Amino acid sequence: MKLTRADFPDGFKFGVATSAYQIEGHGQGGAGPTHWDSFAATPGNVVRAENGAVACDHLNRLDEDLDLIAGLGADVYRFSTSWARILPEGIGTPNGQGLDFYDRLVDGLLARGIDPAVTLYHWELPQALADQGGWRNAEMPNWFADYTEVIMGRIGDRVWSAAPINEPWCVGWLSHFDGHHAPGLRDIRATARAMHHVLVSHGRATQVMRGLGVKNLGAVCNFEWSAPASDGAADQQAAARYDAIYNRFFLGGLFKGAYPDLVLEGLEPHLPEGWQDDFATITTPLDWIGVNYYTRKLIRATDGPWPAYAEAPTELPLTDMGWEIYPKGLSDFLTRTARDYTDDLPIYVTENGMASATTLDPDRIDYLDQHLRAVQGAIDDGAPVKGYFVWSLMDNYEWALGYEKRFGLIHVDFETLARTPKASYHALAQWWR
Ligand code: FCB
Repeated sequence: MKLTRADFPDGFKFGVATSAYQIEGHGQGGAGPTHWDSFAATPGNVVRAENGAVACDHLNRLDEDLDLIAGLGADVYRFSTSWARILPEGIGTPNGQGLDFYDRLVDGLLARGIDPAVTLYHWELPQALADQGGWRNAEMPNWFADYTEVIMGRIGDRVWSAAPINEPWCVGWLSHFDGHHAPGLRDIRATARAMHHVLVSHGRATQVMRGLGVKNLGAVCNFEWSAPASDGAADQQAAARYDAIYNRFFLGGLFKGAYPDLVLEGLEPHLPEGWQDDFATITTPLDWIGVNYYTRKLIRATDGPWPAYAEAPTELPLTDMGWEIYPKGLSDFLTRTARDYTDDLPIYVTENGMASATTLDPDRIDYLDQHLRAVQGAIDDGAPVKGYFVWSLMDNYEWALGYEKRFGLIHVDFETLARTPKASYHALAQWWR
């Protein structure tokens, strides 16, 4: 038995998500260069050095793609606007073609009865700002506020919801400490500054949007459940540190105006002077919190410098990303977020899904079913979960893994760009009817 709309509370929203650089085709329509273009052009960073120049060519196939979203019966479409498409130099003169495109996207959704849920930054930083240090630069909140004003001045009156930044952990830690995403740094000082500036930028953009009268403002964080690889005290501590860096840092900043001690023990010496004063901006009130969830990691302690942890192998089934399938982590995050941080603030699952190479994809249908059950469990336990959005509408540019990992409900042939709905698309269209 699969879950259907009738198994969720009235008004619960189902949706699908994508992001600009992953689908639009960034080489077209007057967008400026981004740090993902230079990261991808550097050998060893991205599978086959692939980039988002063409991607799914969504820019030229907008109506076809919007019809596919409508065919699913989705209530909400979560998309992102590209800073570099709107302001090719990051600041200065807007690209009219870019603004027109997002206008058409929003109007096309509304014409089909779908709620537009916009994210203003999903990682394609304009290269001109990356050249000035990008997220390390204390000017970022000002630049981001100006960009927010430009794009939301244009579409802010018609969107259903807005969030400034997708997944601050990826922007900060994954990109500046692990070096796995653009700009590919491995530098603790850069990490501390990026993690802080991303939250200050979030707060500034939220204030700008409130000023413009934009409704339903939130934040989208990604969480990874962290479990100790053994009962030993060192592994327990390592897992708690992983949890603090990955999950609690951002919720703590946004909702408590404080960073966890387990993070400050490593990052505090590298934070910009006066960082505590920024919490007034960071904690600007929100209307909802978005949770992106995919997996759990088993964590063990290591010798060596902070943060002194590593991933341990797991026995559970894995997706094509090598990510463990662990639906309980989703229900645990939903209940914990409400209990420890957000109380009765509405929670949306803003991303969840799996990579799988097959087009007949019973594995994806099963994954979605299990995670929807986890959402249902959290609702039964009192978490105010109001919606669930699948990552992703269609196969797309999966960042450092290029076009190799397929998260879509719709198959994309990257030679012909033909779209073919998978079995999971048809299944969801039944469930969401
Ligand atoms: C999330 C990202 C999204 C996609 C999925 C698989 O972290 O927001 O762009 O890469 O993971």
